Amino acid sequence: MSVSEKGRRLVREIRESLIELEANGVDRVPRAAPPAPNAPGFRPAVAPLDASRIPRGGDSERALRAVVKELGDCTRCRLHEGRRNIVFGEGSPEAPVVFVGEGPGEQEDRSGRPFVGRAGELLTKMIEAVGWTREDVYICNIVKCRPPKNRDPQLDEVASCSPFLEKQIRAIAPRVIVTLGKPAAQKMLGRPVAITRARGTWEVWHGIPLMPTYHPAYLLRNYTKETRQAVWDDLRAVRARVDGA
Ligand code: URA
Repeated sequence: MSVSEKGRRLVREIRESLIELEANGVDRVPRAAPPAPNAPGFRPAVAPLDASRIPRGGDSERALRAVVKELGDCTRCRLHEGRRNIVFGEGSPEAPVVFVGEGPGEQEDRSGRPFVGRAGELLTKMIEAVGWTREDVYICNIVKCRPPKNRDPQLDEVASCSPFLEKQIRAIAPRVIVTLGKPAAQKMLGRPVAITRARGTWEVWHGIPLMPTYHPAYLLRNYTKETRQAVWDDLRAVRARVDGA
């Protein structure tokens, strides 16, 4: 193989790797290695996952507990180094709808509960606007530990968490999945997504209807009539699909 052929092959391989990264929710590649466990901003893990947060139910509850047990005090990726709590997810094991966000922020990391900060307050209002409560639905994220400084989760981190997220969703077996924002949509659909075009259009994840919509944090930054209307339309479509299913 000539030098120029080798060069072209290398460029093609790099391009394919970047497309794969993007498909898995990564839209930036760090120049430097991730921070060491003792770097500023990283704190040691202080608490193992609290499985008592899973409400008592039937088979779904047992299946969810099995996922919690398998996850254990997870150290499979570097995100464990800085977390305070694993944010497994919460809600009804028999929820008709699972909301999938990006990853825990500071307040979620402190409390061990998903979507409890400002974005969480808005998500709660969105859920209530279509007649559910947080206890009726299930809320989780594509990664269960807080990325440092709330950066986007990286490909290997999403990949480490993926089997647990997938088992969690299969345990609940919801009628509909709602992804919140681009990284969650990309992870669940396995391809690059432009969220403004993808939102509002039904997709399927392993036979389960999936609706991509905006992340509530994006809504907080872009609180316009159009974005609110879009999310309202998406969630009304989700409610109608669940009620008609
Ligand atoms: N943003 C997310 O994507 N998930 C949370 O749990 C909180 C904020």
